[in-house]
Formats: sequence, structure tokens, C-alpha cells
Amino acid sequence: MDRYFQTRKEFKECMYADAFRYVGDHGSVRFGELLRYYLRHPNYRYVYWMRVAQYTFGRNWLFLLRALAYMRLQLLRNQTGIQITPSTKIGRGFYIGHWGSIVVNAASLGENVNIIQTCTIGVAYRGDRGGIPTIGDNVYIGAGARIFGGITIGNNAAIGVNSVVTRDVPDNSVAVGVPAKVISMTGSKGYIYSYIDKNGVKHPRYDV
Ligand SMILES: CC(C)(COP(=O)(O)OP(=O)(O)OC[C@H]1O[C@@H](n2cnc3c(N)ncnc32)[C@H](O)[C@@H]1OP(=O)(O)O)[C@@H](O)C(=O)NCCC(=O)NCCS
Repeated sequence: MDRYFQTRKEFKECMYADAFRYVGDHGSVRFGELLRYYLRHPNYRYVYWMRVAQYTFGRNWLFLLRALAYMRLQLLRNQTGIQITPSTKIGRGFYIGHWGSIVVNAASLGENVNIIQTCTIGVAYRGDRGGIPTIGDNVYIGAGARIFGGITIGNNAAIGVNSVVTRDVPDNSVAVGVPAKVISMTGSKGYIYSYIDKNGVKHPRYDV
């Protein structure tokens, strides 16, 4: 299996960027706050152990850590209903808001993606748009949205609550409804907060 993270530095930066999404509102990740969050919120625990599992890919001497990570993920999956294929390429700053029936089977997710309860991203088994979706950077996926097929959700897009998305969604757009249609070019602005951008610049929710 190929390495998911090429270096330990890349792994640590990713862990930090993920944590920042959860507790970075005031501009930094404080260890005590993160620990409290970890203990109280299985959505963050899921992301944490998924990243640990990913770090072990291609590093076979870490097989015991991988086994532990998979056991934790299995337990969390049964507790929370979150099911994400661990080998899915998911950019830094991945945020799962709440939990309950979240399924992700995607080609890739970009950086700073938000996904929340009862969302499904998955496969379409036939037709021109068969396959699994590719999700861009800074995409907000509203509660209960379903996105399936070999389609692309563009960077900075927002998908409305309970939408069913079966076609490409352009960059910076808002798509809602069943089937989803683009209703504006407002994008995900305001919905993605507490994140670190590609240049490493922090965007806390509130001024420090
Ligand atoms: C998609 C979304 C981001 C768009 O936000 P917005 O750009 O501010 O747009 P608005 O909410 O003003 O809606 C614009 C229009 O689309 C409609 N609309 C919005 N979301 C819709 C949806 N999911 N399905 C159908 N229509 C929808 C609105 O009724 C409104 O129609 P109108 O102009 O006829 O009144 C927002 O509607 C949304 O779904 N947010 C997700 C919230 C969420 O997941 N909350 C749970 C947190 S736990």
C-alpha cells in the first residue's frame, strides 16, 4: 500500500489543521481544550483515528498502531454511524459536524470540507455518471445531502440541506433541492470557518 502521508511533518500538519477546525475559533489549538473536545465528541475522535490509520499506510512496521486505529474506527462506526473509507484522500482540515448516519465513499475530498449528520457521498452504479464523487476545497455539505456518481463538486461550493446531487456543481456556487440546482454563486462563504488555508494562514472564527 502506498504512503498516505509522505512525511511525519505532513501528518502532524494535517492533525493540527483538523484540530483547528474544531477548537481553533480563537486562533490556536490549546491542548487542554482539544483533549476535552476529544473526550466529549466522537465526531472528532473519528477524524483523529482515521488520520492515525492513514499515517500507518505504507509503514508496515506500524502494524500494531494500524490494528488499534482500525479497532477504534470500528467501535466509533458502531457508536456514531459514521463510515468513511479510510484510504479516501481527504485534505487537511476535515470537519465532521455532529454524527449519525454519515457515509463517505468518494474519489477525494479537498481541504477544509464540512460534512454533517445524515449525509451520504457515494457510488452510482451505472450510466454516464457512474462512479464516485470528487469534492473540492472548502465545500460545505448541508445536513442530509446525498451526493453520488462520478461527479465533481467545485471548490468553495455549498450544498443545501437534504439536496440530492447527481451532476457537477461549479466552483463558488450554491446548489439546493431534489435534484439539486444552482441557485446562486455565494458559495460556502460564512459556512466554512476556523480553518487554515493552503498558504498556512489561519482564519479563526472570531478575532483573537
Ligand atoms: C444551501 C445554503 C447554504 C444556502 O444558503 P444561502 O445562500 O444563505 O441561501 P438561502 O438560505 O437564503 O436560500 C435561498 C433560497 O433557496 C431556498 N433553499 C435554501 N436551501 C434549500 C434547500 N436545502 N432545499 C430547497 N430550497 C432551499 C430558500 O428557501 C431560498 O428560497 P427563496 O429565495 O424562494 O426564499 C443553506 O440554505 C443551507 O442549506 N445551509 C445548511 C445548513 C445546515 O446544514 N444546518 C445544519 C447545521 S447542524
